[in-house]
Amino acid sequence: MALDIVIMAAGKGTRMKSSLPKVLHKLAGRSLLQHVLDTAVGLGADRIVTITGHGAEQVEAAVQAAHLQFVRQMPQLGTGHAAQQAVPALHAEGTTLILNGDVPLITAHTARALIEACGGKKLALLTIELADPTGYGRIVRQGDAVRAIVEHKDATPEQRQICEIYTGMMAVPTVALKRWLSQLKNDNVQGEYYLTDIVAMAVADGTPVVAAQPKGEAEVLGVNSPLQLADLERRHQHALAERFMEDGVRLADPARFDVRGELRCGIDVEIDINCIFEGQVHLGHGVRIGASCVIRNAQIADNVVIHPFTHIDGDTQGVKVGAGSMIGPFARLRPGAELAEEVHIGNFVEVKNSTLAKGAKANHLAYLGDATVGERVNYGAGSITANYDGANKHRTVIGNDVHVGSNSVLIAPVTLGDGATIGGGSTISKNVAAGDLAVARGKQMAISGWARPVKKR
Ligand code: UD1
Ligand code: CA
Repeated sequence: MALDIVIMAAGKGTRMKSSLPKVLHKLAGRSLLQHVLDTAVGLGADRIVTITGHGAEQVEAAVQAAHLQFVRQMPQLGTGHAAQQAVPALHAEGTTLILNGDVPLITAHTARALIEACGGKKLALLTIELADPTGYGRIVRQGDAVRAIVEHKDATPEQRQICEIYTGMMAVPTVALKRWLSQLKNDNVQGEYYLTDIVAMAVADGTPVVAAQPKGEAEVLGVNSPLQLADLERRHQHALAERFMEDGVRLADPARFDVRGELRCGIDVEIDINCIFEGQVHLGHGVRIGASCVIRNAQIADNVVIHPFTHIDGDTQGVKVGAGSMIGPFARLRPGAELAEEVHIGNFVEVKNSTLAKGAKANHLAYLGDATVGERVNYGAGSITANYDGANKHRTVIGNDVHVGSNSVLIAPVTLGDGATIGGGSTISKNVAAGDLAVARGKQMAISGWARPVKKR
């Protein structure tokens, strides 16, 4: 049986007070609409029809999913009118699930329950009881049977006492949906075509109407304002934090932990407060991460210690940190940084597109860009690779056991042979042979009996 999913995303989102269409605002690093699309794909939708309107071009360019198509709704004359635009794109039969582009946390579990409750035969509504139902469509029942949904603005004072509300999500037999949508009228307080009017039509037709409930409230909360967006973000992050802690990850504070992508953790991982994980991050066994680190697209091997305020950004190339390495505090690892085992990167050290072999150390105030660094190298404080000549980038190759004295400039392309030593303060522009000492700086002079200037009276 075909499963079509219609996602409503044409609304303006005035209360966001933003030039960005509402459904493109981000939660946990993904747009609201992309969350819904990813869930839709997970449900095995044969077609996903997204209804766009406000900022349609921007929305259509920003999201992706398998079997996705867009239908435009201009102007926006209500949720029923929106659903009407999707009709030509739907299969002839099967089930249509209606979701909202601004309700990002709906789970596949709940959506599946709704689809099953529909079974291609019944109208299944997702409803929930709210302490404050103001503004929502109310579920009007007679005995246990659902009779209608009445919008808040159209409701009588008695109906406004009803706390069971329609969440905006339903599963409908596609054949019946098409028939009902063709009969909608806009004779209501708002002069809109209400999708919710199909409930009374189903009742009139003798089609059973059933209701399912989500596990938690967060699943059905929509985003209309920055405040609601932040509230959902925190609820989502808290749920993630709980899952990690259930798997044994030790978070110093689940309220100060953010995952904006996919984080995988080994056993005995400890994460201090205010850390952000973005993109694909893998932390091996026994990894410890200090406070306020930002880590994006990186693989951190077993027993690595990352001290506070470290920024690791693998971007598209990735960053790899080998087992037992120590990074930070205040270190910066950029795309293409690949560290072998037991590498030490200290404070204010930046590494980009460079490999460091086992046991190499750069402990203070240094830059390594486009460099190949051998085992046990000691890269002195204040040293840099001058890898860019203003037009092209060049490589610096540093052999095993090289000592680079403090405040050296290595002008690439240049190679330092195994065991070479660079005198502190040198500017190295020629290759250095294995085992040699290279010193390239002004010679020290001494002027004996030097008298300092004195101030004129
Ligand atoms: C709707 C329901 C209401 C329910 C509430 C849950 C109707 C008539 N009412 O309320 O019973 O309690 O959702 O949040 O359906 N949209 C379009 N085109 C339009 C109008 C809306 O695409 O012409 C989209 C919006 O972008 C949004 C969704 O439909 O994603 C819901 O619209 P919104 O205006 O928030 O819902 P209400 O009509 O207030
Ligand atoms: Ca709404």
